[in-house]
Amino acid sequence: MLFFFFFFSSFPRAVMALLTAVFSCLLLSPLLVAHVQDLDDMFKENRMDDVWLVDFYAPWCGYCKKLEPVWQEVGAELTHSGSPVRVGKMDATAYSGMASEFGVRGYPTIKLLKGELAYNYKGPRTKDDIIEFANRVAGPAVRSLPSRQMFEHVLKRHSVLFLYVGGESPLKEKYIEVAAELIVYTYFFSASEDALTESVALPELPAVVVFKDGNYFTYDEYEDGSLSSWVNRERFQSYLPIDGFTLYELGETGKLVAIAVTAEKDPTEKSIRLKGLIQRVAAEHRDQFNRDFQFGHMDGNDYINSLIMSEVPVPSLLVLNTSNEQYFVPEEPVESLEQMLMFFTSVLDGSAPAYGGDGIFQRIKRVAFDARSTIMSVFRSSPLLGCFLFGLPLGVISLMCYGICTAESDDGSEDALKREALTDEEEEEEEEEEQRLAGGAPDTQDLGELKNPSEKKVD
Ligand SMILES: *[C@@H]1O[C@H](CO)[C@@H](O)[C@H](O)[C@H]1NC(C)=O
Repeated sequence: MLFFFFFFSSFPRAVMALLTAVFSCLLLSPLLVAHVQDLDDMFKENRMDDVWLVDFYAPWCGYCKKLEPVWQEVGAELTHSGSPVRVGKMDATAYSGMASEFGVRGYPTIKLLKGELAYNYKGPRTKDDIIEFANRVAGPAVRSLPSRQMFEHVLKRHSVLFLYVGGESPLKEKYIEVAAELIVYTYFFSASEDALTESVALPELPAVVVFKDGNYFTYDEYEDGSLSSWVNRERFQSYLPIDGFTLYELGETGKLVAIAVTAEKDPTEKSIRLKGLIQRVAAEHRDQFNRDFQFGHMDGNDYINSLIMSEVPVPSLLVLNTSNEQYFVPEEPVESLEQMLMFFTSVLDGSAPAYGGDGIFQRIKRVAFDARSTIMSVFRSSPLLGCFLFGLPLGVISLMCYGICTAESDDGSEDALKREALTDEEEEEEEEEEQRLAGGAPDTQDLGELKNPSEKKVD
């Protein structure tokens, strides 16, 4: 019943949507097609002379469809801005051999292909972010800053940037190597000492420095480990707004993520205080916590709730360990800087109780939780599809149940009739028979046949 209701109620809307989509495609396609090339088998031979930004998609994937209009805009803007990057898309299901050669595992996969190198894009799928990525990765891994003006210009432009200062050295070679790999994440520059402003005083050259948080910090080979692990840890501002994507990216630094969950639209006094405190810890207690913590705030608790599968209050404070999916919450509300410092210290020394995790129980819970939210989201976005996916099997199952139930009640009435014809003695006999059968649990059909002996007696 429900199934048919959904089917018919959403049918006209779906048809309308389809028609609109078809018409708008027909109207717009001549305007758009020029900027994004449909790639096929020939791509592998023809691509080497250019830098390519490619969307590997599957025709059935929802996220790919969502990316499609963004991708057209990316293509248009890169063409208009005179970028050397060419934009294409490839149906990875039609050219699966080539897609797997490029290391495509999910859809959509965005890659920048530059000669022998392939760079994965993992950030938010918005036009500006993708274009920024393309321009950054397509250019040289290390950009040199010839003048003080250029240095001041890039400082203003980028919230985080790495800079090599000095002449030729083994450190510079290492720096270029690290930059070629990590250019997907951030910017790498090099400069001579006279391009720096007076505010930057480096005691020793050559040096690798990160500029962020309105400050700069120097790489120390002995304390900070390998240059690439240091860059990986330092590539984010110490405090930043966090959403699902940033949380995923932050996780790759291997640090704990301390989050103030707040309501940004309608902030309460408590929520402003909590944010203020966590910002102070990030800025003033860098020496103590920077190595292990990334700090930030998240607007609303929706994302966190689904992540940890339980409800956190707004505002509240929590620490996530993204490597093992554990989380920590303070046992008492945090109202002062001391309380917050104590909480973070207790997480580090292991005295704070950990919740969640990636144990077997949590995994089962996750599967159930994800299944529920998938079903909900399918129904929300497309009731028609939801009905086909879940309504059809449900309908079949309920029909089967109905069939079985009615069949059983038929058996029952026959039994009753038979019983009437039986004497007390015979009834006892049949009860014995039934008990014996219960152990063997044959299906209803067999049961009917085996009952036949008692019928014979009646005859
Ligand atoms: C976070 O998880 C990793 C991996 O399981 C573990 O080694 C580390 O000790 C955890 N950190 C804390 C503070 O629990």
